[in-house]
Amino acid sequence: MATIISPSLLAADFTDLRHEVEMINKSDADWLHLDIMDGTFVPNISFGFPVIDAVAKICKKPLDVHFMIEHPERYVQRTAKTGAMMMNVHYEACVHLHRTVQEIHDAGMKAGVTLNPSTPVCLLEDILNDVDMVLLMSVNPGFGGQKFIEGTIDKLRALREMVDRKNSRALIQIDGGVQAETAPRLVEAGADVLVSGSYVFKAADPIQTIHDLRSL
Ligand code: DX5
Ligand code: ZN
Repeated sequence: MATIISPSLLAADFTDLRHEVEMINKSDADWLHLDIMDGTFVPNISFGFPVIDAVAKICKKPLDVHFMIEHPERYVQRTAKTGAMMMNVHYEACVHLHRTVQEIHDAGMKAGVTLNPSTPVCLLEDILNDVDMVLLMSVNPGFGGQKFIEGTIDKLRALREMVDRKNSRALIQIDGGVQAETAPRLVEAGADVLVSGSYVFKAADPIQTIHDLRSL
């Protein structure tokens, strides 16, 4: 199976979003990754629903929305209204994760759960068969363009083993510092979905870069 590529819009040129989304439409990208930050869960603020709605109007690829916010459960219905395919919430932000996952499904979306670099994969043991995707952060969330954390590779192998052992349908997504050197190692260690921000959007030829990542 080809690796699923989900470019992160955070690294796009925000003065020309239409052009950036049209590039994504023309490319081999499978999904488009949208990073929502609240300045509390992470030390940065990105963009919110007006931008998601605008992107959704012109984007032909499914939207994979990554919430780096406190209380993401407050926004399940509003996210479903954008037409997003996937709502991804942080394990660390959800006291009642199972309830939130159920609410995301009831609202008609796929449900993803994200782990910060310091959160161990063993904590997913009892939710793994209820989620559609697990996102392992390979940088501390909040900013694009950071250095890949090497420990992610071992963590990914452990998660791959757990997903296979439990016969879970969950895809494994990696986000942060994904580029030419780290991507092949991540695919080899069992990643299904790669998010890539600066490496794609700052490339001389983003369409070719997406194509190359996808054919790993
Ligand atoms: C970081 C975000 C990422 C970010 C990745 O908090 O979740 O999606 O855009 O950026 P790069 O690929 O530049 O590390
Ligand atoms: Zn992200």
